[in-house]
Amino acid sequence: HIEPLIAPSILAADFARLADEAAAVADAVDWLHVDVMDNHFVPNLTIGLPVVESLRRATDVPLDCHLMIDDPDRWAIGYAEAGAYNVTFHAEATDDPVALARRLRAAGSKAGLAIDRDTLIEPYLDLLPEFDTLLVMTIKAGFGGQQFLPELLDKVRAVKAARGELSVRIEVDGGINADTIEQAAQAGADAFVAGTAIYGAEDPAAAARALRERARA
Ligand code: DX5
Ligand code: ZN
Repeated sequence: HIEPLIAPSILAADFARLADEAAAVADAVDWLHVDVMDNHFVPNLTIGLPVVESLRRATDVPLDCHLMIDDPDRWAIGYAEAGAYNVTFHAEATDDPVALARRLRAAGSKAGLAIDRDTLIEPYLDLLPEFDTLLVMTIKAGFGGQQFLPELLDKVRAVKAARGELSVRIEVDGGINADTIEQAAQAGADAFVAGTAIYGAEDPAAAARALRERARA
C-alpha cells in the first residue's frame, strides 16, 4: 500500500499572500502544487520562475511545479535550478520527453510527465521508468474550479497496470474534492492535487487532512 500524497494547488490561494498560504497548510500536506501557465499552451496566465524562486525561500514544503507552457525544453530546467522538488511538463509540449526528464533529474529535481484531457496514455506507458510522477489530468488543463471528468480515470488504471514495481507516483489534477478523491484513489492514483477543495475551504489544513483520510479509504 502506498501512502497518498496531498498537494494543494496555490492557483486557488491568494497570490498576494503566498508565504502565508503555504504556511497555512504546511503541517497537513506533502507538496505544494504550483501551476505555471504561459497563455500559449493554455489560455490562461499565472506565475513563473521569479515567484517559484521566492516561494522556495518562503516555505520548506516541497514544490511540485506543473508547467502548462510551450517549449518546456527551454524553460523547465530553470525550475529545477530554482529548487523545485518535482518539475512536471506536458507530453503535448515536447517531442522528446525522455531527454527532458533526464535533464531534469541531472539538474537535481524529480521529473513528471503530464497528460492532458485529450491525449491518449498508451504511447507513454513505456516511458514510466524515466519519470518520478505521471500526472493524469482529470479536467482539461488551464483553469481551476472545473468539474472532474471520471472517464479520464481509465488512464490512471492503465498507468497503474503498467507500473509494476516501479516507484513512479500517479498524480491526478482537476476537480479533486471530498466526493471525487475516493474514485481516483480506487483507480490507482496516489498523489492528489486540489485547489478549490483546499484553499476554497474555511480551514485549508483541515480540508487537506480530510482529503487524505478519504484517499486512504
Ligand atoms: C488546472 C491546474 C490545476 C488546478 C486545479 O489546469 O492544473 O492544478 O489548480 O484546481 P481545482 O482543484 O480547483 O480543480
Ligand atoms: Zn496543476
